[in-house]
Amino acid sequence: MSSVTFEKISKSFDDLEIIKDFSLQIEDGQFVSFLGPSGCGKTTCLRMIAGLEFNTKGIIKIDSDVVNQPEKGFFMPPEKRHVGMVFQSYAVWPHMNVFDNIAYPLKVSGVSKSEIKQRVEEMINVVELDGLAKRMPNALSGGQQQRVALARGLVMQPKVLLLDEPLSNLDAKLREKMRSDIRNIQQKFQMTCIYVTHDQIEAFTMSDLIVIMNRGDIVQVGHPKDIRENPINDFVRDFIS
Ligand SMILES: Nc1ncnc2c1ncn2[C@@H]1O[C@H](COP(=O)(O)OP(=O)(O)OP(=O)(O)O)[C@@H](O)[C@H]1O
Ligand SMILES: [Mg+2]
Repeated sequence: MSSVTFEKISKSFDDLEIIKDFSLQIEDGQFVSFLGPSGCGKTTCLRMIAGLEFNTKGIIKIDSDVVNQPEKGFFMPPEKRHVGMVFQSYAVWPHMNVFDNIAYPLKVSGVSKSEIKQRVEEMINVVELDGLAKRMPNALSGGQQQRVALARGLVMQPKVLLLDEPLSNLDAKLREKMRSDIRNIQQKFQMTCIYVTHDQIEAFTMSDLIVIMNRGDIVQVGHPKDIRENPINDFVRDFIS
């Protein structure tokens, strides 16, 4: 588990600044949700941590390691960051069975066959997909595919797990179960998690810390109870009501 630090981050696409002077400290082992309306910059923040997108100003650190520092032309490659990412679309490989999907990051990193077998079997058990190792994704439910994506994000034992609206394609009942499963896995592995959602119930039920964003700015950061009891302005009050 690891801390994540944003120091005065800005991000522009062409000339349009979509993240503005964003500073935030996320502590080791925290479950943090980024909550905000569509287009406010949540996915872009995750992609910058993962190294899939570069900030135009400021510094991002994972623990004490600088991973992005455009002023010095420094960007750590994504594969060196030990960050796992789970996407809204699942992005499981359709031509690989459950086992091979989860094993993929380990294979790419050159882990031995015997270790791959042991680690994938352990992850299959953690996400409760026992008995489905040979199943192809098109023969899995949405929730089961989501578990494959989660297991694949976890199998490298990342320092930080990034989850981008991972439950929005699931029905309400399954969403509720997956919320508590994700939280349990996060606690079991004592992992730092950053969770993106525009669903306030999700953010409030799962998080140690909530970051409310609007138009590339942080509007309020706090524990769920603090934000509920003391919304800083009308935007937050309306957004959480
Ligand atoms: N590659 C890109 N080129 C230009 N603009 C982009 C690019 N990617 C994102 N944007 C813009 O940056 C802003 C933030 O996008 P982002 O995907 O981070 O929003 P979001 O908060 O994740 O929204 P949603 O809840 O809809 O997923 C949006 O205005 C979007 O149009
Ligand atoms: Mg998004």
